[in-house]
This record gives sequence, structure tokens and C-alpha cells, in this order.
Amino acid sequence: MTELGRLEDLPADYVAALRAQNLVPLWPSLRGVLPPGKPILNTRATHWPYAVIRPLLLKAGELTPIEKAERRVLVLANPGHGLDKMQASAAMYLGMQLLLPGEWAPSHRHTPNAVRMVVEGEGAWSTVEGEKCMMRRGDLILTPTGLWHEHGHDGNEPVVWLDVLDLPLVYYLEASYHIDGGRQKVLPAHGERAYARGGLVPTPVFERSRKAYPMLRYPWADARAALESLAADQPDLQAVQLTYANPETGAHAENILGFYALMLRPGQTLRLPARSPAMVFHLIEGGAGVQVEDQRFTLAEADTCCAPGYTAVTLANTSTKAPAFLFIADETPLHTKLGVFEVRD
Ligand SMILES: [Fe+2]
Repeated sequence: MTELGRLEDLPADYVAALRAQNLVPLWPSLRGVLPPGKPILNTRATHWPYAVIRPLLLKAGELTPIEKAERRVLVLANPGHGLDKMQASAAMYLGMQLLLPGEWAPSHRHTPNAVRMVVEGEGAWSTVEGEKCMMRRGDLILTPTGLWHEHGHDGNEPVVWLDVLDLPLVYYLEASYHIDGGRQKVLPAHGERAYARGGLVPTPVFERSRKAYPMLRYPWADARAALESLAADQPDLQAVQLTYANPETGAHAENILGFYALMLRPGQTLRLPARSPAMVFHLIEGGAGVQVEDQRFTLAEADTCCAPGYTAVTLANTSTKAPAFLFIADETPLHTKLGVFEVRD
């Protein structure tokens, strides 16, 4: 590969003359923006143990009232991007959010898409565009772009959930903003009931729903049961994995990030090929090892880790007796829509 001219090879007065006119020579930076064979990856494999996060998050509950936080969140920031950037990968933001009994996180809507993966506690709910979604461990609740959402808590113990947003991407696009609103009127609709049976969709007088997001809550009890059925039905299936999908279209549940549930059979090791999107793993139940190149993390329940794109990941169930259940988020819909999606091996 030909070595290209450097900035310091140019006369200083020439570079200064360019800069004075808001001009920059490309060739000294060309290999940086178009590196050979593989992108430069800032996303670093990173592990955030819940045992570390939990006491610090509860401390935030003592230090900062909800009125002063609006959303009481500790961001899981990737050091490879710099902590102040508050991003887990190029397109993904992760946060652990705490809501205490009686608290209310007021209604707003915004351009970035979010989902909530409930980590612990009972009695909290999210109202999304009028649909009241109860929050139980492992439930996935969508708050897609533009939809009103607020969070409340009628229980008597702290509730914690993992937020996954495409905020870094939307912010980068200079398209990130929010609008505040008042309390939402609760409507009777429940998408998880309307779409409770696979392959059967509501069709009033032959009309299909025109909602962009017809299902907002994906109960963990249903996802877990579906994984166990799949594992029992197909004992030779290598990866017992489900995609959280829009039940009307079969497409990913949201436009930019993809969400999945994965079951590792007792003792199973599963190699995921190197694919262009970065990935996030959150352990819902059991125990799992995650190998990303020369780094190995041991995930306990409620632990979260991330892996950069273009990197193979090996998952292992650390128990030989019980299955392990993981929630995965990645950037597949985004890469696919942009035409940059790749599987390397
Ligand atoms: Fe929000």
C-alpha cells in the first residue's frame, strides 16, 4: 500500500492558506477515514457488573430527587469512545434507570428510539402513547421515536431497568430533541394481548393495523416460553434465538436497533460470527461467559457487556444444569438499511 503524503510534508504557509479558506487536504487523513480492510473501532469490549452498578444507582436515589433528575440514570459509557460521549457503541446508548416507589418520571417524547429491559422490582409501569405497560423482570417495552412516554411506580421496592437508545446516532445526525407533555390518558389497548398468538393478527373488517408500532410490551414470560418451546422442538438447533419483531410486518420492532432473546442450553457454547454491527449482551437469567477476542467476561444475572462490530463473540453457559437467557441489542437494522451490513465468518 502506497504511503501517502503527510501534513508536515506540506509547507506551513500553504497549510495555513488552506485553513484560512476552510479547506483541508484529504491525503494526509485518507487512510484514517478509509482504513484498509476493516474500520477503526473505537467501541471497546466492556463489562458493567450489576453488583457494581446497583449500590451506586441506589445512592443516586438518595442524592438526587426525581424532580432534579427527570430520568435518574447511570449511563454505561464505553471508555473507547470517551466517557463523556455517553455511548456504548457508535449507535447505542445504555443506561440503568432507577425509579423509587411513588415517583413519576414525567411524560415526554423525543426523536431517539428507546427500549426498556426491566432488571428488578415490581409495581412500575410505563405509559406509552396511552398504553399502560406493566414492568416486570425481563419485559421489553418500546418507546419508539415520537411516542409519548412516562414512567410511574405503585410498588414498594426500587425498580431498575436498562435503557437502550439509538441516541448517539440521532445526536450525531443533529436530529435529537425532546418535547415535554402532561399526564397521558390511559387507553384500554394492550398490544401484547392483541398479538399474543404467533401468526394471528387482529383484522377488524379485513383491515390490518396501520400503527407503526402495534406492540409496545413484550412480556418476558412469553419470550422465555417461546425460547423453551423452540429448544424442545428443535434439539439440534444451534442457536435458540428470537427477534423482537413488529407483529404486523415481521420487521425489527424498531427502525435503528435490533433486539433479541437468546437461550443457551445447559453447558452450551455458541460462537457468533464477526458481523459489522456492535452488540450488547444483558444476562436475564443463569450464568454466561462472553469471549470477545482476548477478553473474557463472566456475566452474573443483570450484568451487561458490549462487543464491537467486525468481531466474533463466543458465548458459553457456565451451568451444565440450567439454561441461560440473554437479551441482545445490536445495530443490525441500521447497518442493513444503510447497506453496510456484513458477516465476515
Ligand atoms: Fe424518554
